[in-house]
Amino acid sequence: MIQTTNGKKLWAVGGGKGGIGKSIFTLGLAISLAHLGKKVILMDADLGGANLHTLMGVRYPAHTLEDFLLKRVENLEDIVLDTQIAGIGLICGADDILGAANPTYSQKIRVLGQIESLPADFVLLDLGAGTSYNTLDFFNYSPGKIAVFTSQATSLQNVYGFLKNSLFRKISREFPKDEYVLWLLYQSGSKSPEVKVESINDLLTHLQRKDEYRHEELLQLLRDFQVLLVVNMIKTDRDFQAAQIIQHVSHRFLELAPQVLGHLHYDQAVEQAVNQMVPFPLNADKSRAAEELKDIAQVIIDKFAPPPSLREAVDQKEEEAAAGGSWSSFWRRAPA
Ligand SMILES: Nc1ncnc2c1ncn2[C@@H]1O[C@H](COP(=O)(O)OP(=O)(O)O)[C@@H](O)[C@H]1O
Ligand SMILES: [Mg+2]
Repeated sequence: MIQTTNGKKLWAVGGGKGGIGKSIFTLGLAISLAHLGKKVILMDADLGGANLHTLMGVRYPAHTLEDFLLKRVENLEDIVLDTQIAGIGLICGADDILGAANPTYSQKIRVLGQIESLPADFVLLDLGAGTSYNTLDFFNYSPGKIAVFTSQATSLQNVYGFLKNSLFRKISREFPKDEYVLWLLYQSGSKSPEVKVESINDLLTHLQRKDEYRHEELLQLLRDFQVLLVVNMIKTDRDFQAAQIIQHVSHRFLELAPQVLGHLHYDQAVEQAVNQMVPFPLNADKSRAAEELKDIAQVIIDKFAPPPSLREAVDQKEEEAAAGGSWSSFWRRAPA
């Protein structure tokens, strides 16, 4: 049973490994949320490997993130494409040309600065594979964090590495001037460490001895680092254990307590949809994976509805539109 926490509008979906269903899940979640009456903006944050638009059946996106990164357009909202699915807007990922796949720090800040005020109930980021700083920063910046993985050993290994790298990056960014914390983090990765730091618990123990205040700050950071787990491509009951394994190692080594958001069975309907370029589960809403996505969307709405302050942007724009204001809603723009 998921513990209720603060509402969250911005969600990032990561997992470390490629081909384990991050994009399928993010898209399926967006469609399920939209079917439940929510407005969703999907952003393809797989910089360099963007393919969310393909899964959505869009061959030639009119705008991509590149237009925003290279300042061809001023507002992130202006590159949101209308889609064939009512209630879903899409920001297509950037390609590798002109270096847009590897944005500078200031470009990234520009994206992050505008992302949470996009006019939607939920903004979902589909992250790329690997643990590049860009991917980790998008994950860390998002209040809603979802890690997708399968029960395969390689996926378990990568999702754990992804969580660990995200957390270490978070700590090093939150304690940038604390030489001692940075030194302890360095010890944990060193082949010949000067002190034993094999887990975050070891780090906490050292820190407590040295600086009670910093120790408390780190504990708070760990409490705030809430990750939800989704096991994908379940084939047998044994595959459910994958979530427990990640919960166990996250607790044992990282002092994190990720909760299980849900699971998706392996479902041929997913593959068929991909091959036909029909966004899953649009034409397959009776399939098993579609039902599971619906359950997950409902949990997100029930437990994590965004706080009213983050809804204001949507409400205000809707009012303006209703009053015949100049704002032209992207929900009504021509399909991409
Ligand atoms: N639940 C599922 N059942 C069956 N096939 C799936 C499922 N989830 C993902 N797939 C298959 O895995 C492929 C890779 O998924 P994708 O979401 O593109 O991975 P990622 O974004 O993690 O690289 C999809 O094209 C699809 O064929
Ligand atoms: Mg993907």
